[in-house]
Parts: sequence; structure tokens; C-alpha cells
Amino acid sequence: GGAQLLAGRKVLITAGGTVERIDPVRFLTNDSSGRMGFAIAETARRMGAEVTLVAGRTEGPLPGGVNVIRVQSAQDMLEAVLAEAGSSDIIVKAAAVADYRPAMKADQKIKKSEHTMTLELVKNPDILQTLGSRKKDGQVLVGFAAETERLEEHAMDKLVRKNCDLLVANDVSKPGSGFGTETNEVRIFDRNGNVEALPLLHKLEVAERLLELAAARLRRSEAA
Ligand code: PMT
Repeated sequence: GGAQLLAGRKVLITAGGTVERIDPVRFLTNDSSGRMGFAIAETARRMGAEVTLVAGRTEGPLPGGVNVIRVQSAQDMLEAVLAEAGSSDIIVKAAAVADYRPAMKADQKIKKSEHTMTLELVKNPDILQTLGSRKKDGQVLVGFAAETERLEEHAMDKLVRKNCDLLVANDVSKPGSGFGTETNEVRIFDRNGNVEALPLLHKLEVAERLLELAAARLRRSEAA
């Protein structure tokens, strides 16, 4: 049911891992495949939304029928997201964004020496927090949290600190859940501390439930 739940809506989604260059042949990244974000993009389109997908490093085919913007670093992703955010009704940050990047990017391949090597890292901007601080009325902002311990505490902290409306928490230490898998087991929190605990589901089913909740919040904020 509810096939056209998002007709006429604009949905912005980020997916995949960011790539932080060390030199022309080396980089820092993470295990994100982009599957969770792709599933949300595909489901939002099926629900009738106009979808923009900002994708970092991903595996497998991109979803069809959506506007794709390719990025590498967290800074690139921030720029792309900010350019689209103002016109979006729902923003879902499923990407795994690097918290740090190398302080310097070498123009040439770094040579081996006799010594140990230290890679200095500096903090990246927090894209979700930036979006939360400039959220416009009625916009629904959805964050993710990948945790290996104290799921609820960390999830609620991120939800409040980053000014999200919904936060999808995945315990990435559970088998079949989180990075790289076809399935995910999540709990979806809202600002009032309500939580919807979903069983282990295909990422498309997680996407459907999440977008139903986001669509309901949009309607509620318009009615208010
Ligand atoms: O891509 P898959 O292989 O399908 O895996 C899915 C997933 C595990 C990557 C996904 O379900 C998920 O949990 N994504 C968020 C991963 C993450 O970076 O979590 P975090 O707890 O470090 O960050 C919290 C939130 O802040 C996230 O919405 C993240 O996009 C955002 N963030 C984090 C750091 C940063 N510098 N900028 C951000 O916007």
C-alpha cells in the first residue's frame, strides 16, 4: 500500500564511503557498500519522489531513475549536499563519512624511507550536523548511526546533537547487519525517544519502513 506516498516530494540521500586521499595511489576509506543508501533511493523513487543520490565509494549497480552525483571526500560530499539541501523535503544521511582526513595530500607518490611513518589526520566537517544547524521548517532530516556498543545511548546523543528528526541506529557488530550486507537490523528513534525496533530485514524493507515514517512526519508538520 501507499505506493505514491512521496509523490511531488524531493528526497536527498547520501550513500557509500568517503575517500580521503593520502597521495595519488593511496587513500583512507571504510567498508560501506552504498547498499543501504541505494535501497532508500530506489524505494523513494518507487514511492513517487524526485530523488537525488550523492554517492561516494560504492559497490554494484546504481539505482535507476535517480539523479546521481558522484563524490570522493567528505568535503566534496558536504558541498554537493549543501547545494541540494535547500530544495529537499527529506534528507537521509546513510553514507559512512570519514571523521578524519590526512592533514596533507601529497602530489606525488610518497616514497618509502628507513623510518617509521606517521600520518597526521585532521577533522572533517560533520555534514549531518551542518544540515541540522540550518534545517528549514518542515524539512525532515534523517541520520544514521553505526555503533558497536551502547546503541541507544549513542543514537539518542547523535539525534539531539545533530538536530535530526529520525535516527536509524544499526548495531554493526551483529551478523547480517550494517556494512556490506544485503540485510540490516535497525532501531529507528525519534526526538521524543520513541523507538521502532525492526527485525533483521532486507535493506529494501528497512528503506520502506523508514520512508513511511519520514513521510508521516512531513504530513504532520504540514498539518501543524
Ligand atoms: O553502505 P552499506 O554497506 O549498505 O552499509 C550501511 C551503513 C552501515 C553504512 C549505514 O547503515 C550506516 O550506518 N551509515 C552511517 C555510518 C556512519 O558514518 O555512522 P556514524 O555513526 O559515524 O555517523 C553518524 C551520522 O553522521 C551518519 O548519518 C553520517 O552520515 C553522519 N556524518 C558522520 C561524520 C561526518 N563527518 N559527517 C556526517 O554527516
